[in-house]
Amino acid sequence: MTTAAPALSLTDRAAYDHAVEQALAASAAYYQDGNTTLDDASYDALARGIAAYEEAYPDHVRADSPTGKVGGGVAPVGDVAHTVAMLSLDNVFDAEGLTKWDASLARRIDHPVEGGYAVEPKLDGAAMAARYRDGRLVQLVGRGNGTHGEDLSHAIGSIVGLPTQVPGGATVEIRGEVLLTRDQFEKANEIRSAHNAKVFSNPRNGTAGTLRAKDRPYTIETTFFAYGAVALDGVDFLTGTGHEAVMDQVAALGVQTTSATDVGLRVYGTLAQVQARVEEIQHLRAELPFGIDGVVIKADDYTEQRTAGFGTRHPHWAIAYKLPPVEAQTKLLAVEWNVGRTGHIAPRAVLEPVEVDGSTVTYATLHNPAFIRNSGLKVGDTVVLYKAGDIIPRVEAPVVALRTGEETDILLPEACPGCGGDIDKSGERWECAGGASGGCGKLPSLKYAVGRDQLDIDGLGVTYLETLVDAGLVDDAADLFFLSQKQLAEATGSDKRADALLVQLAKAKEQPLNRVFCALGVVRTGRTLSREIARHFGTMDAIRAATPDELAEVNKLPGANAPKIAAHIAALGPVIDKLAKAGVNMVEPSVGDTETGSRPLAGEAVVVTGGMHGALAGRNRNEMNELIERAGGTASGSVSKKTTILVAGEGAGSKLAKAEQLGTRVLTEDEFAALIADYLD
Ligand code: IVH
Repeated sequence: MTTAAPALSLTDRAAYDHAVEQALAASAAYYQDGNTTLDDASYDALARGIAAYEEAYPDHVRADSPTGKVGGGVAPVGDVAHTVAMLSLDNVFDAEGLTKWDASLARRIDHPVEGGYAVEPKLDGAAMAARYRDGRLVQLVGRGNGTHGEDLSHAIGSIVGLPTQVPGGATVEIRGEVLLTRDQFEKANEIRSAHNAKVFSNPRNGTAGTLRAKDRPYTIETTFFAYGAVALDGVDFLTGTGHEAVMDQVAALGVQTTSATDVGLRVYGTLAQVQARVEEIQHLRAELPFGIDGVVIKADDYTEQRTAGFGTRHPHWAIAYKLPPVEAQTKLLAVEWNVGRTGHIAPRAVLEPVEVDGSTVTYATLHNPAFIRNSGLKVGDTVVLYKAGDIIPRVEAPVVALRTGEETDILLPEACPGCGGDIDKSGERWECAGGASGGCGKLPSLKYAVGRDQLDIDGLGVTYLETLVDAGLVDDAADLFFLSQKQLAEATGSDKRADALLVQLAKAKEQPLNRVFCALGVVRTGRTLSREIARHFGTMDAIRAATPDELAEVNKLPGANAPKIAAHIAALGPVIDKLAKAGVNMVEPSVGDTETGSRPLAGEAVVVTGGMHGALAGRNRNEMNELIERAGGTASGSVSKKTTILVAGEGAGSKLAKAEQLGTRVLTEDEFAALIADYLD
């Protein structure tokens, strides 16, 4: 089968031997404790290198070669015979590979595919057969070597999507993938931390480990998605004549299928539609609640499947279209500690640069000190790195099997790396004990408050701010409004600059509430949420009076953050009072008397991409978002199914492509400017 990803090139027999041993060791480690020594892409490249060498030198093929064996020949076999062999799938990596597969399928069935192509996600977990007899879930069997699998029935009752009873007394074997969703993965690691067990390095390894474990003092919940069904005990239960129909029958039993997700099964008539759907799924990938490593394409019609038949390892009627890996291995070179605007002290990994999901990654988040402690990470470790789409790259775990003994412990800071003061270690996140306003967060929070998207005080750079802080004149943003011309002139060394700043400060007092609120730098809020909060409550007094439950009603505000936000607003009381005393505006202007419903963007979810010109020239993204919301719409940064308008400026790229794929309405800058003309200043 054609592949786009390069195979490892093996030039002599010694290299071949070494490669076989590496592959066997990697599979063995994976099946032993769920910890791989190689990431997927490296394993694939190695396996394809081995296969290429074996084709060139058939005499050299080793009996223990992983080629041609399900699970690389080392999967736990178990002793439950499979009703029908559980095979794996052949891979392609690009449109060309897909076309070649389609051509070979057409040759096998003597005509182009007529019954359509079923397209569904390739779920990244562990294969499982669930046997229902007379409506009861009686046995779970792992894939094993394809003909025999291990009995995993002890997991019955802990798998979401696999009910223990189904209606109608059905007798049938349902096949699918068991996995840990991202939420389940996080929860699993919390449970494991609490039991002093090693945390799972990623959801797939966690699934493998969880399914095998029998006598744990705790239960870890997993999730099942069906992707097939076969007859059991010769009972004629399945009536559908194709994949989609049978999956509908499975779903009707209450067993979860992929149709419960955004990337669920769809059937297409042409390969071009299949290719477009693959790209669509690739875009949706980062937002899915579980991991996928590809897209599976199957001839939907069972007659066509039967005619196409099976090879030794793969069905000819199905193919896995692999997506670029979102995981990679690289070296942890160092750990940096940075202090954020709110005084949060965060560890950051400095990595040997590595390519993941289309970009080079050099830094990744290490979350918090608890993560470092629980994962046992050391400097010099080979680490598993995860990055998909726009999400911040994160280190998942060290690959302990690749340690050389040269690794060194990560030193946790004794004092705040920003100001040298104490660290508040009471929570999972460490904070500078001085907090945002007192400690080393003071300057960053002042800089943030005067920024273009907040109070927008032009000409008040960090050097002047530092001088004002050092002179003891400014502790928080409110103090700025009480500075005299003389004080400003001293700090900036110029009367003219002081005059200009006074004009800016007077202007800043008139900013709308959303910007004044944003300038406070409340934890877990940024520009978007500040606009939502200001719009929801209308006045600063109403915001201050809001209980956490009332805050949680604000659009886009995660309920779990509401208590923290409320507490911080309360703590900022004196600063807010001072701002009010200075005459700073504390209300969100309503747009005339117009009801939201009659504004031009009422009910529209708008995303802006590319550079703005013409009537919209010079507006940054935040200003565009403010404009959208004044005109009654909601603004968002990324295109999804919910987006109703994409404004495409100069150089619009992937967002435009995605909008076109989703059939979203696309407007040029001029069309958009005309639509909201009444709201342009
Ligand atoms: S069909 C005979 N469909 O990928 C065809 N497999 O490398 C059997 N997988 O062992 C598989 N999502 O564990 C199929 N939608 C999907 C799948 C899927 C994930 C796994 C499965 C299989 C492996 C093949």
